[in-house]
Amino acid sequence: MNKLTDLILKLKKDKNAIILAHNYQPLEIQEIADFVGDSLELSIKAMETNAKIVVFCGVDFMVEQAKILNPDKIVLIPDYGCRCHMAHMLKPEYILKIREKYSKTPVVLYVNTLAENKVYADYIVTSANAVSVIQRIDNEVVIFGPDVNLCKYVEYRTGKKIISIPDNGHCYVHKAIHVNDILELKKVYPNACVIAHPECDLDIIKVADFVGSTSQMVKYVENCSTDTIIYATEVDIVNRFRKVSPDKKYIPACPQAICVYMKRINLEKVYRALIEGKYVIDISNKIIEKVRKAIFNTFELLGIEIDKR
Ligand code: 13P
Ligand code: SF4
Repeated sequence: MNKLTDLILKLKKDKNAIILAHNYQPLEIQEIADFVGDSLELSIKAMETNAKIVVFCGVDFMVEQAKILNPDKIVLIPDYGCRCHMAHMLKPEYILKIREKYSKTPVVLYVNTLAENKVYADYIVTSANAVSVIQRIDNEVVIFGPDVNLCKYVEYRTGKKIISIPDNGHCYVHKAIHVNDILELKKVYPNACVIAHPECDLDIIKVADFVGSTSQMVKYVENCSTDTIIYATEVDIVNRFRKVSPDKKYIPACPQAICVYMKRINLEKVYRALIEGKYVIDISNKIIEKVRKAIFNTFELLGIEIDKR
């Protein structure tokens, strides 16, 4: 353990803080975190903790979600520049326009959306539960955004009609992954299995052996008997794979699939966050109240019981 790590661990204890990290965080951050997971698990963990301070190592929409679920806690992001590129593609005017046209159609928003836009949602889903939630909504047509690929995936899995907003919402990391590269890798490793995140193009989804959220992929890797895995998502998830199943061979479908926003966080910034108490996430009560309603509607639809403190 290096000196900075020791200092962070001590400060965390002294200040009654918890460190949460997303599966795409750099290894050094994953190693000091109390919990590493996908967007859904991190939201739930943030609610379950008794810590006073939550240092969230992820991107803006995830940290906002933690604050919305924990309005009384201090939620910190170690770097304000951790902005999810996709979350910034959805603008309120797109939602209002489509709502005007389809006034009775439920609006589902992907958790990768900014809080100020989530106020327009009836339900808020993550990659782990988008299919189950939309399947359970009592309507054959659903407005959904901002990821066009996730919309296509849900449409493919549920058979429902999805009106996607905005026109070309996407994640640049998953857009960098191409099905032909996967097919070429399959020629070299014919026995490998292919796993993919639902933010990938539909042609990748169709050749994948498993599709799921980042943590669902980790669980798949842990339990599958195949010893070579081609993975179509952000490269640093490999740290999680190696942790749960160190003897397998992991091949990125695209070694350039890197989320630069996730990589802005380092040990130095986590240390500063703890010592200086920055950067504080602040969201108005009005927004918090509205968004919580949509999140709790979603949990209710899924039969997830939570303490709504
Ligand atoms: P998960 O919820 O699957 O971790 O995905 C978050 C994300 O931003 C993927 O790009
Ligand atoms: Fe956003 Fe894409 Fe980064 Fe996920 S990988 S946080 S969707 S930019």
